[in-house]
Amino acid sequence: MGVVAHWRATGRSTITAHRANRRSGSSQRERCCALVRKRTCSSVCAATVGFLLFLGVCLLHLPDPLTLEPVVSEENRAVTLLIWTYPFGRYRKIPDCFALYQIGGCTLTDDWRAYPEADAVIIHHREVATGSADLPPEPRPRAQKWIWLNYESPSHTSSLWRFEDVFNLTMTYRTDSDIFLPYGYLVPNEHRTRGLQNRFAHPLHTPPRSHRPRPRLLAWVISNWSESHARVAFYHQLRRYIQVDVFGRAGRPLPEDSGGGSVVRLLGRYQFYLALENSQHTDYITEKLWNAVRAGAVPVVLGPSRQNYERFLPPEAFIHVDDFPTARELARYLLMLRRNPARLRRHLDWRGSYSVHQPTFWAEHYCTACRAVRRTRGRTDVVRDLRRWFHS
Ligand SMILES: *[C@@H]1O[C@H](CO)[C@@H](O)[C@H](O)[C@H]1NC(C)=O
Ligand SMILES: *[C@@H]1O[C@H](CO)[C@@H](O)[C@H](O)[C@H]1NC(C)=O
Repeated sequence: MGVVAHWRATGRSTITAHRANRRSGSSQRERCCALVRKRTCSSVCAATVGFLLFLGVCLLHLPDPLTLEPVVSEENRAVTLLIWTYPFGRYRKIPDCFALYQIGGCTLTDDWRAYPEADAVIIHHREVATGSADLPPEPRPRAQKWIWLNYESPSHTSSLWRFEDVFNLTMTYRTDSDIFLPYGYLVPNEHRTRGLQNRFAHPLHTPPRSHRPRPRLLAWVISNWSESHARVAFYHQLRRYIQVDVFGRAGRPLPEDSGGGSVVRLLGRYQFYLALENSQHTDYITEKLWNAVRAGAVPVVLGPSRQNYERFLPPEAFIHVDDFPTARELARYLLMLRRNPARLRRHLDWRGSYSVHQPTFWAEHYCTACRAVRRTRGRTDVVRDLRRWFHS
């Protein structure tokens, strides 16, 4: 297990230090994997073991941002993080990072008067792109960092060209962001006793052998129906061969308090769920997938490539639209699984070893950003080629 330990040590120091790799497009996980490969595949007999390790180790470590935190040392001065706008103009209470995530040394504020002293300003893209807020005034205080915060996909992120050489750190769902926090991630059970994120992680369960099929087959929750989306075209195809229960503005009403929890309860009655992203981009895998995973409905995904999903989940944990030449074949496969519990189990057996963590918007983002500011203090960073990188 020397490999595991080694990567863990490397991982700690690289979570915010992968700017150099950004342009080459290599993610933290790919580097992790390259490293594991180098160390385990030197002899032929190690190849199989190496491959298993490669899967296990890389999957284990990529989506585990909170445990990468080294113990915060007391002598480090606390930092002030200024929240420039409320994302989408919606007020949220400012979190207590220590109480929630045991991230110490962070003063969060939304008071613009703190600007001259702030160590960092976190700036949500939408408001400065649409002009509902201006960027902070220049010249900025020396050593202050501006953090670009964005959780929309490139298709829904406008005016990027205006922000070249403006920001110092990026914070997005992309694995190669300076501050990486995805919409959700798996926590292997052996970490649960260690990490602080346990409190927020939902343990997943493999259904018992005696388990009967779920009463309902296939659901889809869709709030923004647009005929121009690939997912709507796909749905039109699929519904010819299989019953799809559609919920949301364009379908049946969602349960009353339609927060994440009630969607998860709804999906708990279904065997499969259509986790179709509004656009297809690197690492753009949203709560649609993670809600299904939490609910134990096997996600049928449309988004980035299968290979990209496999950075976040075991290969059998999801069914990719690209796995089938046509919507008809996909429908056939789902109906076949329904009749063959043993085959269906292949898509569920992995669950016993994991919990799922869905970071809280935006409390966890602010606290994670603040921790990164503490860690990168004294360093100069500039985000160049923002547009090219985000679209890559
Ligand atoms: C809904 O989809 C349309 C078409 O892609 C897009 O222009 C719009 O921004 C989306 N709305 C939301 C709220 O995501
Ligand atoms: C932040 O970015 C600006 C604009 O590119 C740059 O002038 C400044 O030196 C950077 N500051 C730090 C602390 O990285």
